[in-house]
Amino acid sequence: MSRHTQVRRITAPEITARKGGDPIVCLTAYTAPVAEILDPHCDLLLVGDSVGMVVHGLPNTVGVTLEMMIMHGQAVMRGSERAMVVVDMPFGSYEGDPKDAFANATRLLKETGAQAVKVEAGPQIAATIAYLVDRGIPVMGHVGLRPQAVNVDGKFRAKGRTQDEREKVMAEAKAADAAGAFAIVVEGVDETLAPEITAAVGVPTIGIGASAQCDGQILVTDDMLGLFDWTPKFVRRYGDIKGAIDKAVSEYAADVRGRRFPAAAETYALRVNSAPQARVARGDKRG
Ligand code: KIV
Repeated sequence: MSRHTQVRRITAPEITARKGGDPIVCLTAYTAPVAEILDPHCDLLLVGDSVGMVVHGLPNTVGVTLEMMIMHGQAVMRGSERAMVVVDMPFGSYEGDPKDAFANATRLLKETGAQAVKVEAGPQIAATIAYLVDRGIPVMGHVGLRPQAVNVDGKFRAKGRTQDEREKVMAEAKAADAAGAFAIVVEGVDETLAPEITAAVGVPTIGIGASAQCDGQILVTDDMLGLFDWTPKFVRRYGDIKGAIDKAVSEYAADVRGRRFPAAAETYALRVNSAPQARVARGDKRG
């Protein structure tokens, strides 16, 4: 990947300053080549812990490790140059002592070069958000449907559909805002609740399964590209990557079985009177 000019990345304060302005475009990214495609279109790339389900085939995000987030964070940083990059703190890496959360967040930022971390934020996490922000780590909150709480909830379930739950989600968002989060992801909530949260907090809300009235939107890229047969109700499919891969691979398999691949143009030919060079071209180092 060539980098002829130094391009400055969008920063956390610049994202915060977009509150109430042009919608903030966000997507998840896990690999360098996909990050490179997304980068010119997005304000923010999230290395989401959804990587555990989307890339590693885990049933939920609970099994995701710090090492996985570091590896994918590094890849996304290599592939992008303009968008702000935020890395999810995986389950178990921030809910205990704020000092441990700081050590883990520091590792994520130092080893990936990303600019911020995201935590699933209830009022009980507010003190940790403040602890991290006070020590130089920008934090994005994540409220509403909190995938890391799947074992408490029993399944991935939309939130804020009862008065009690509305108050809880609102309290999560206000606590993250008061603690210094630079933006807040609002996932899987009643459509009328998201604009209320957006009006109640001073930082941008980034909706997913929330409302078009949020300050920005995010989707899991592989979902919106159509990599899976099933996607949540709130995903709009902008592509059919699964269909494209299926078609390409079935054509490849037929060509291999029919001995139509590789063709002459896809093989190396022996050069007349230059047998050693031909061996080099084939990568045969033994000469
Ligand atoms: O992990 C993730 O991809 C996320 C987004 C769905 C917001 O948290």
